[in-house]
Amino acid sequence: MHFFLTSLPCTLCRCIIITVFLSIGTFLGQEVFADEIRVLTPPPEGIYYAKLNYKHLVIKLTDNNDLNYLKVETTSGETIQPIGKWEKQGAIYVHFRLPLKAGKNLFEINPGKQYVKVTFKPLRSLLNLNLRDPSVHLFHKREIAPAECSPCHNENLPKDAQITPLPFGDISSVCYSCHRALLENVDWKHSPTTNVFCTACHLPESSVKQNTIIIPAGKVETLCFRCHTNQKKWKDMPHVHGPAGTGDCTVCHNPHGDKYKFQLWAPGERELCVACHDDKKFMLYKDRRMYVHGIVSGTGCTSCHDPHATEYRFQLYKPISKLCTSCHTKLAGLKRGHPIAKHPLAGPKDPLREGRRFTCTSCHNPHGNKNKYMLVGELVGQKVCIKCHQRGNKK
Ligand code: HEC
Ligand code: HEC
Ligand code: HEC
Ligand code: HEC
Ligand code: HEC
Ligand code: HEC
Ligand code: HEC
Ligand code: HEC
Ligand code: HEC
Ligand code: HEC
Repeated sequence: MHFFLTSLPCTLCRCIIITVFLSIGTFLGQEVFADEIRVLTPPPEGIYYAKLNYKHLVIKLTDNNDLNYLKVETTSGETIQPIGKWEKQGAIYVHFRLPLKAGKNLFEINPGKQYVKVTFKPLRSLLNLNLRDPSVHLFHKREIAPAECSPCHNENLPKDAQITPLPFGDISSVCYSCHRALLENVDWKHSPTTNVFCTACHLPESSVKQNTIIIPAGKVETLCFRCHTNQKKWKDMPHVHGPAGTGDCTVCHNPHGDKYKFQLWAPGERELCVACHDDKKFMLYKDRRMYVHGIVSGTGCTSCHDPHATEYRFQLYKPISKLCTSCHTKLAGLKRGHPIAKHPLAGPKDPLREGRRFTCTSCHNPHGNKNKYMLVGELVGQKVCIKCHQRGNKK
């Protein structure tokens, strides 16, 4: 300021004076806001790969006045309300949850016009995330709580914390003070998470005492099987469902909790399956041109398929004819006599499917199609018969 005033009378070269004025102005401006409104997390820009569709913004204010003007907005002008403000050693820490949509998210923080740019890439499972990729933003790069946060988030949790520290000095309750949102709006919770035993999964096994957090990746199945020992047998079964076989358990189950039974993100008997098996979506939505297997609106896909593993191909609970006749009991045990007298139901090779034996699905699609009775061809005009019994050829 002093420098500015003394140089003002010099009118020989205005432009120099103006430049000096501007540079001092912006310098002061930055200085002021940098001191009083500091964004502690997240960084100004970063890629965030996660299941959670929000990210926390923590702002540190040293001037109580700024609290009245503090405003966080989305690009569409929506104001985001803070979820809490807490004070320590003369500074105020204002906490926000930033809602994220897939792709770019921009937030403006005022006064000071600072921006936070979060590129959000939603993932169903973090199993294949390369944590060493420098573009991946991780909060816990090194420590559990950075120095900036530890005055409050430590074993002596703040008074208004929603959980009392665990007696045996486990750090998990500290985790929960920052991650309580994990169990909000969640109807089915995973026992070790509700019991705030985060360290069961998030500390590296080899160095439990070390202050590092891991995302259990790469071998989630050994993590899950550590406690779910009865399920270990799945691995040795002859027919294992794709993602269960690769140990990607969290692509379906949320290790913390979720909206649906068994901590699934969609109802496990139907909606979950067709989210990946797109071609079976027709089974769920009424389409008058299609004949759909009635059972799907009952116990769904899991009436016939196990989501993990079984002894039979396609992870069916039973061999096909036994499976079908367990419900269609009229045909149970029959070797011949459907759809016409003496017609075999099992035994010979399937003329339409190489390497397969004749069974119910030789003639019926188990899911549905455009033909009545879900037959593999039209019944009218015996088109379905002709598929196997060509004219002039009895077989
Ligand atoms: C049963 C094991 C298990 C327990 C217990 C557990 N987690 Fe996790 N957590 C995981 C796995 C596995 C992932 C990786 C994400 C995925 O694939 O679902 C994860 C991911 C996370 C994430 C990142 C989520 C995201 O969307 O990116 C946070 C945060 C987290 N855990 C916090 C916690 C906290 C806090 C606790 C204790 C209250 C806890 N976890 C308990 C297994 C567990
Ligand atoms: C002045 C004390 C204080 C400081 C410093 C502080 N926090 Fe907090 N924070 C709290 C309190 C109190 C809660 C509420 C805890 C509870 O209810 O269990 C909280 C809650 C949170 C939550 C959970 C918010 C939610 O969604 O419910 C997160 C995340 C969080 N803090 C992150 C941080 C981070 C990151 C830092 C450091 C950059 C930090 N905090 C620094 C006091 C503080
Ligand atoms: C001081 C607050 C705080 C504490 C304590 C804390 N976390 Fe976090 N954690 C965060 C924030 C902030 C993020 C970034 C996501 C967000 O903004 O909500 C995060 C992210 C994560 C992630 C995703 C990967 C990453 O590094 O970004 C995992 C996993 C996780 N936390 C687990 C834990 C576990 C387990 C504990 C306890 C051992 C713990 N956290 C303690 C604040 C905290
Ligand atoms: C620290 C031990 C532990 C770990 C690790 C663990 N679980 Fe669990 N899980 C439990 C306990 C305890 C229960 C509740 C008891 C029960 O119902 O079997 C449970 C229940 C479940 C349930 C509900 C079962 C039911 O019948 O209602 C599912 C699903 C589940 N866990 C999946 C997983 C997955 C997937 C993983 C790996 C990401 C995992 N668990 C890792 C301890 C663990
Ligand atoms: C394709 C989605 C999917 C995957 C992948 C998956 N599950 Fe499941 N899981 C389900 C569904 C659906 C149910 C409900 C079972 C039912 O309705 O019969 C279930 C039930 C469970 C149960 C409770 C009932 C039981 O059979 O014991 C446990 C425990 C479990 N899963 C653990 C795991 C583990 C461990 C893995 C990884 C090896 C895994 N799941 C992978 C969908 C999945
Ligand atoms: C996260 C995605 C995902 C979900 C959810 C999922 N599946 Fe799968 N499913 C796969 C993958 C991947 C394969 C392996 C594909 C392959 O081998 O061609 C597979 C294979 C199968 C197969 C064997 C296909 C074959 O040709 O051998 C059946 C049957 C099946 N899934 C049924 C189900 C059922 C029933 C559910 C719901 C309980 C379900 N899937 C949920 C991804 C998924
Ligand atoms: C009535 C029992 C039954 C129901 C219900 C059922 N399936 Fe199947 N599914 C089968 C049989 C039997 C096969 C083997 C067909 C064959 O013999 O080739 C099969 C095969 C499959 C295959 C592998 C071959 C293909 O057609 O792609 C997938 C994937 C599959 N089912 C997914 C599903 C999904 C998803 C649902 C729920 C929307 C479902 N199934 C409901 C009995 C059933
Ligand atoms: C869990 C029980 C269950 C199993 C297993 C089952 N179904 Fe069904 N099926 C049903 C129900 C329920 C209906 C609807 C009945 C109705 O609409 O009257 C149905 C309907 C049918 C129909 C149409 C009947 C009509 O009159 O339109 C055919 C064909 C059929 N199933 C064949 C099969 C075949 C082939 C299998 C084995 C791949 C099989 N079903 C397995 C329960 C089952
Ligand atoms: C050679 C082809 C063929 C085979 C194999 C076959 N079906 Fe059928 N199925 C038909 C035809 C054709 C119809 C049409 C209705 C009719 O003419 O009876 C039919 C009708 C049905 C119906 C509905 C009418 C009724 O009788 O309730 C059911 C249910 C059924 N089949 C179940 C099965 C089961 C279960 C198996 C295996 C044990 C099986 N089908 C094997 C051709 C076959
Ligand atoms: C998916 C193939 C397939 C379809 C579709 C099919 N069949 Fe067959 N059919 C066979 C096989 C295989 C045999 C046994 C031939 C043998 O024993 O060598 C057979 C045998 C027969 C026989 C001789 C039965 C006996 O006395 O041994 C008759 C008649 C017959 N089919 C009529 C029909 C009629 C009518 C239809 C249509 C409603 C039909 N088939 C649909 C495969 C099929």
